[in-house]
Amino acid sequence: MSKNTQNAILTIGDERYELPVIVGSEGERAIDVRNLRNDSGCITFDPGYANTGSCTSDITFVDGERGILRHRGYPVEQLAEHSSFIETVMLLIFGELPTQRERDTFREMLINQELLHEDLLHHFEGFPPYGQPMSILSAVINSFASYHPDLLDIQTPEEFRLAVGKIISKVRTIAAFAYRKSLGKPLVYPDPNRSYCANFLHMMFSIPYKEFEPTRAQVRALSLFLLVHADHEQNCSTSTVRMVGSTQANLFASISAGICALWGRLHGGANAAVIDMLESIRQGDLTVTEYLEKVKNKEMRLMGFGHRVYKSFDPRARILKQAAHDLLLEQDKHNDPLLEIAKELENAALSDDFFIERSLYPNVDFYSGIILRTLGIPVNMYPVMFAIGRMPGWIAHWAEENHGPTKIHRPRQVYTGPVQRDYVAIDDREPRG
Ligand code: CMC
Repeated sequence: MSKNTQNAILTIGDERYELPVIVGSEGERAIDVRNLRNDSGCITFDPGYANTGSCTSDITFVDGERGILRHRGYPVEQLAEHSSFIETVMLLIFGELPTQRERDTFREMLINQELLHEDLLHHFEGFPPYGQPMSILSAVINSFASYHPDLLDIQTPEEFRLAVGKIISKVRTIAAFAYRKSLGKPLVYPDPNRSYCANFLHMMFSIPYKEFEPTRAQVRALSLFLLVHADHEQNCSTSTVRMVGSTQANLFASISAGICALWGRLHGGANAAVIDMLESIRQGDLTVTEYLEKVKNKEMRLMGFGHRVYKSFDPRARILKQAAHDLLLEQDKHNDPLLEIAKELENAALSDDFFIERSLYPNVDFYSGIILRTLGIPVNMYPVMFAIGRMPGWIAHWAEENHGPTKIHRPRQVYTGPVQRDYVAIDDREPRG
């Protein structure tokens, strides 16, 4: 970060304030208002924080106008083509692509950490059979704080690496156990001889005496799905992790809060909402044209479309659209009706003024559900899959928040409620209609 030579000038009434302008490594400029309230008595007003930088960060660069996403400088397209999810995890969290030796050591760590503490399994018994996998994931990750008290106050790089290994490895096991619990199926333990993604698919779909052997294309599609979700700078769940972490809450509690933030339909719940939307069109509830009419009348949103930051295209959506095609081809499912409806919706929306004027394009969730569906993953697991992918981003941001000069996140507000009034005894209060 550098200081611009020019300052911003703000005039309020007769008062004039000079505000420094700071510049990021990609030339983005920000007006530094840190002293504004002290100097002027005013705060800035930005509901939804669309114009507010909450931190500086070295991790991920997004340029929404040009459809650019880079992690530690590397374009997501290059990572998707040449790298794997686990390499991207290491890049995000530790700052560099790993050497072969570092990669092997990390793999060893993931293998050592893949089992859950046996006592933790009782937690799964405590959830009802219809328990939501997202609530189970959030609760179990939060409970790590009780099972690993030695990692509550991480001080050394070794402790941090251990905590990272535990979360990145065990999150697969928790997710798969939550799924199997919801079906009343026996739990399948991890197999140390399988890769990260193959092992997850094994825990999801193997049954006693019949091991599930995923194809290379299935493993590749899952790795790509997780990779494109790995980080996306200050999105809602990551900002939540940073906010909770800014109180010096432990890593597990902060990540658990991030999972909860991700759950909503406008964030990590959107991939499931896309499949609901495509299914309802397939079942004939509405045609594509009728659906878009309702969207334009603001009766509903086109799920998987639009983004707070991307205003030309979402590079992740392009990668996943191709990956969905490749996976379906490999599975010999050339004509998935939902993929056809998705493409029809996309084409119709991209040539419609409503979407053009508002710069609405397919986002990462538009095609990701098709991949998950093709992999046989049920819809209530979709946000969980997003959470597994986003785990490295959350951890990297939590670490950055904790290693930097920490300041508790505490926005202000413009109060619009009643001005001071005096207490009225209950017998003297006016009846309300
Ligand atoms: N369908 C229809 N209209 C939309 C959509 C959409 N998907 N998204 C935005 N708009 C319209 C909105 O009605 C508004 O129109 P107007 O100016 O006439 O009032 C305008 O576009 C701006 O919308 P906004 O809500 O102010 O934009 P935002 O930046 O606050 O919202 C968003 C971003 C992602 C929440 C929103 O685009 C949306 O709801 N999309 C659908 C849900 C979705 O796919 N979410 C996944 C996001 S990507 C993965 C992730 O990060 O979680």
